[in-house]
Amino acid sequence: MNTDTAVPQLPTDYLRDPYPFFAEMRCGPGIFRGTVMDYSKTPESLRPRQEYAAVSFDAVNRVLRDGRVFNSSIYDSTIGLFIGPSLLAMEGKAHWDHRNLVSAAFKSKSLARWEPEVVRPIVNGLIDEFIRDGDTDLVRAFTFEFPTRVITRLLGLPEEDLPTFRRRAVQLISYAVDYRKAFEASAALKDYFLEQIDKRRSTPTDDIIGDLVSADINGEKLTDEAIYSFLRLLLPAGLETTYRSSGNLLYLLLTHPEQFAAVQANRELLAPAIEEGLRYETPLTTVQRFATEDSELGGVAIPAGSVIDVCMGSANRDANRWPDPEKFDIFRHHTPHITFAAGEHTCMGLHLARMETRVALESLLDRLGDITLITDDDPHIHGQPFRSPTSLPVTFTAVR
Ligand code: HEM
Repeated sequence: MNTDTAVPQLPTDYLRDPYPFFAEMRCGPGIFRGTVMDYSKTPESLRPRQEYAAVSFDAVNRVLRDGRVFNSSIYDSTIGLFIGPSLLAMEGKAHWDHRNLVSAAFKSKSLARWEPEVVRPIVNGLIDEFIRDGDTDLVRAFTFEFPTRVITRLLGLPEEDLPTFRRRAVQLISYAVDYRKAFEASAALKDYFLEQIDKRRSTPTDDIIGDLVSADINGEKLTDEAIYSFLRLLLPAGLETTYRSSGNLLYLLLTHPEQFAAVQANRELLAPAIEEGLRYETPLTTVQRFATEDSELGGVAIPAGSVIDVCMGSANRDANRWPDPEKFDIFRHHTPHITFAAGEHTCMGLHLARMETRVALESLLDRLGDITLITDDDPHIHGQPFRSPTSLPVTFTAVR
């Protein structure tokens, strides 16, 4: 059994392009002692003492599917401090029961309705705001904006609350940058959501908060704390990921003009383009798990108590699964990626995320022509574990 303890250092341009490092690490047994997280701004006392990183598809898949040996309790001492006790950090029966209750709010029947009633009008309303300008930054004016507006409507929050809700949501998801502000936002969102829950206890509503309030399985209902914690979880889970993934796809298409032209000419290519974008530039590259007992992965001993970085971004470029994995190619044979995780914590919003991205891209392609990226300020995809373009300055012509 390999017990090698040399910890590899992250390269200096890591945040811009972590993929060469991931590729190098995949040459070994698929898991290594060390980390893929950028802790350069994290105080030493808050860093895990013993960390391993799973980087091959097989190792990532195995860790995610074994919730008994590699559980999510690690989130109690990270993001859980800001969102409260949520299904993200639960395991086994408790997780299953809780997930069944909250999934009442994500029925596929609702999804079919949300597309024409909520997502399309929001996306088109945003395009209306800049279509006459001939140029814009698609991150600021579009990708950053539409998921917040969508979730505000789906939760059933009053439109006039959007600016405050947006500000608090951004503060909460920026917990790694400013944890004091994130705690303030967490408390403010709790009070705000409690008011909304209260209103729906007396007058039921047809929205996600209303569905959570009335969810009932064999007499079991969600407590107020479970509801507002779940709602706070939706901010990092549903907003941050979706805005980043749609920005990534736009960046990739704008920098691969032939593939962009092919999608413009044939909208059936949009679905494979979305999947290839999610594989090639995974918006959340890494999640974490906690080793509950001594175990072994790919011949590497993992002691109980270790924190495991589970690097889906690296797994998605594993040459054992995809030929020529470092190439963005919407025409490649479809092999499912692992961007939405796997096992019991598989993303609950994956159908919503795909639908939002499809509608956003369809509407942009229908309404804008000759979209061209202005490269003067070197826009590029940046970050780890969350990745997205720094900006997307474009020129275009208005079609309709
Ligand atoms: C492209 C967009 C998205 C990506 C890449 C993504 C990715 C993920 C990943 C990797 C996880 C697993 C986290 C872990 O196990 O540590 C997750 C869980 C989750 N996601 Fe998403 N997500 C996206 C969009 C959404 C949306 C739009 C929603 C809802 C509005 C959502 C709701 C959730 C929830 C509730 C969980 C927790 C599931 C559980 O613990 O059982 N996600 N997501």
